[in-house]
Amino acid sequence: MDYNFLKVENHDNGITVVAISVPQSLNALNSKVLSELERFIDNLDISVRVLVITGDGPKSFVAGADISEMKDLNEKGGLSFGQLGAMVFRKIEVLDIPVIAAVNGYALGGGCELAMACDIRIASENARFGQPETGLGIIPGFSGTYRLSKLVGQAFAKEIIYTGRTVKSDEALKIGLVNAVVPQEELLNTVMAMAVKITANAPISVKYAKKSINEGYDLSTAGAIALENEYFAKCFNTKDQKEGMDAFLSKRKASFTNE
Ligand code: CAA
Repeated sequence: MDYNFLKVENHDNGITVVAISVPQSLNALNSKVLSELERFIDNLDISVRVLVITGDGPKSFVAGADISEMKDLNEKGGLSFGQLGAMVFRKIEVLDIPVIAAVNGYALGGGCELAMACDIRIASENARFGQPETGLGIIPGFSGTYRLSKLVGQAFAKEIIYTGRTVKSDEALKIGLVNAVVPQEELLNTVMAMAVKITANAPISVKYAKKSINEGYDLSTAGAIALENEYFAKCFNTKDQKEGMDAFLSKRKASFTNE
């Protein structure tokens, strides 16, 4: 499939890496880029086990939503643009497979929001996070007020959004915005090693674990526990559960078939 703003690498170990590539704007997201990202997500091959999202080039993951496109929008246009970004990011969040953000530089505004829609964030030391929207006369519009509060708590989310300040990678790690920080030259190798570890496990288990965590998060304690019970039980319908446990008891390596 052809893309103008995405560079896609399909590895034969079930890992796909997609890099947002808009060199003239540090990979800012305009509506064409967002629509392309949606098309890419909708057409992801079922053989893909882990998706890695990164930014093209050494400087930027995504420098935000495209300010030149937003400048002349009215309320109706703002609503459509916000809904487009939120819808695409939600598709990423609820994908059946894990999504890892390899944050290789600026992750500002919509870039920080894209990273937060992923399951796991690994950042390079030069990564810079932030929600600078209040300095532009808007607020985060691709679900950043919601996801940042969920990830780092309301106190830090409010401070980061009200001040619009930049969060360096070491602070992002400290407040739980990212899982790990590594030197830039090690970023993709670190992310790929994590992805390979995930692909060694039963794909259905990873999928149900993701669904249980995501869907349980918005429920009551009792609801979340009941939901986990359901997904746990479903695992026993799968060949991979029999294989995983048989392999353990036979002291051999499991060979999962995603059935
Ligand atoms: N939208 C449009 N263009 C952008 C952009 C953005 N978000 N970010 C960078 N660019 C463009 C710049 O305008 C510049 O273009 P020209 O070469 O044509 O002048 C080019 O990318 C390179 O940028 P800089 O010259 O500014 O590079 P720098 O190294 O000096 O600074 C930066 C880098 C700190 C990331 C700076 O570009 C910047 O502050 N960018 C804007 C970040 C931002 O405010 N993001 C939030 C956008 S609002 C949003 O995302 C809303 C939402 O939630 C949906």
